Amino acid sequence: MTDIAGVLERELGSAAVVGPGHERLDDYGRDESPLPVFYPPACAVLVESTEQAAAVLRICLERKVPVTPRGAGSGMCGGALPVNGGVVLSTERMQRIKQIDAGDLVAVVEPGVVTGRLQEAVEAEQLFYPPDPASLEFCSIGGNASTNAGGPRAFKYGVTREYILGLEVALMGGEVLRCGRRTAKGVTSYDLVAGFVGTEGTFGVITELTVKLVPLPMAAATVLGVFADVAAAGAAISALLRGGLRPRVLELADRNSIAVIRDKSRYRFPANAGAIVLLEVDGEPEAMPMMMEKIGLRCDELGALDVLAATEPAERRSVWEARRLISPSLKAGYRIKLNEDVCVPRGRIVEMLSRADQVAAATGVECAVFGHAGDGNLHVNLLSNADPADPAVRAHLWGAARQLFVHTIELGGTLSGEHGVGLTKRDYIAIEQSEQVIEWQRRWKAMWDPSGLLNPGKRLPARRPSCSE
Ligand code: MLT
Ligand code: ZN
Repeated sequence: MTDIAGVLERELGSAAVVGPGHERLDDYGRDESPLPVFYPPACAVLVESTEQAAAVLRICLERKVPVTPRGAGSGMCGGALPVNGGVVLSTERMQRIKQIDAGDLVAVVEPGVVTGRLQEAVEAEQLFYPPDPASLEFCSIGGNASTNAGGPRAFKYGVTREYILGLEVALMGGEVLRCGRRTAKGVTSYDLVAGFVGTEGTFGVITELTVKLVPLPMAAATVLGVFADVAAAGAAISALLRGGLRPRVLELADRNSIAVIRDKSRYRFPANAGAIVLLEVDGEPEAMPMMMEKIGLRCDELGALDVLAATEPAERRSVWEARRLISPSLKAGYRIKLNEDVCVPRGRIVEMLSRADQVAAATGVECAVFGHAGDGNLHVNLLSNADPADPAVRAHLWGAARQLFVHTIELGGTLSGEHGVGLTKRDYIAIEQSEQVIEWQRRWKAMWDPSGLLNPGKRLPARRPSCSE
């Protein structure tokens, strides 16, 4: 067996390689997914340049060693787990913001830049990078592009894909490809960039990104509508969607989600909060009071028990800190948390909320629902304090997840609105996609990675053996 760590150390230097015996090596066998297992890599390589990334991909192909790309390890579907061992190629050290160009409205960045740091840097120049995954304080822009991350503001501004104009990608074998553009528009080539965004490092390793920026909104305000229960909140969201209001955020959290942040939040949730609807508007400062009043009145008409308006930055920050704490608090509060992120057409949101209830009732699995309801994208968390190592416990929870997926597809939805497929949803995608669609994706993957060594075992289920096999 090749001593791949030794080979890479000789090529890149020992500072770049986390090898056997290193205290941090196990960290590269885990991510934020709900899997109770970890997959130890032979080594992790912390590359600092495109050339180093390309060298790792060349050496691994020559020696037939699997390579798993990794950003900040904040993924929730196991996309960065080295399931076949081999090398983890981490871009965490590639943290340079190379350029912020206010004239062209673009930034050029390395993949390891933490999303929140990019936002701060561009906001200092009155520019805005809108995608805001809840993990923005620790996730990185390369990982966001690889998973096509969303976030609350996707409701108005769209997801990461809409902000990636150009990419540099290191391919399996070491070739480096630059594709895309810096212009606002461009239809000259097939959209290779779109092909790499959201493919979870199965086609190539992103080593540089040219991202689109927009002018920073001059003001923003946040409104929290408190409702008796999730059905009332869901109905209010549907009515708000039909009513022509265009907030930048339209989120929901149910009673169980509020319960885990109630004590941690500086923001005091009213005691009778059965569900909350979180809205945020942005635009000219003068327009804020009028918009807030309009939203407040509309929430009242829709049966809100209470409406709280936050305009001051500190007040708004505390609301958002609380919102972003829901997922980590659920994770801390339960031994198992399957965090699904199903997405249904906007007209089916109320039905999806009731289907989630049905799954909880039918399986007895505790459930917390929150997320980007305005996009039809709900984080249905299936929770348990049973032993995660018990296969029967896991089978029961994944059985509940399967029921949820079937309901989602019945409503015309999709299994994942923002977290991706990775490992955890790989074996469920046939609920949504035909064998023909899956097979075309296999061919597409084989074009970029004929060896099958780049992030193996992800996204696509194994081919069914034919009768003659
Ligand atoms: C969120 O919206 O909070 C994130 O997607 C994380 C999660 O769903 O757990
Ligand atoms: Zn989310």
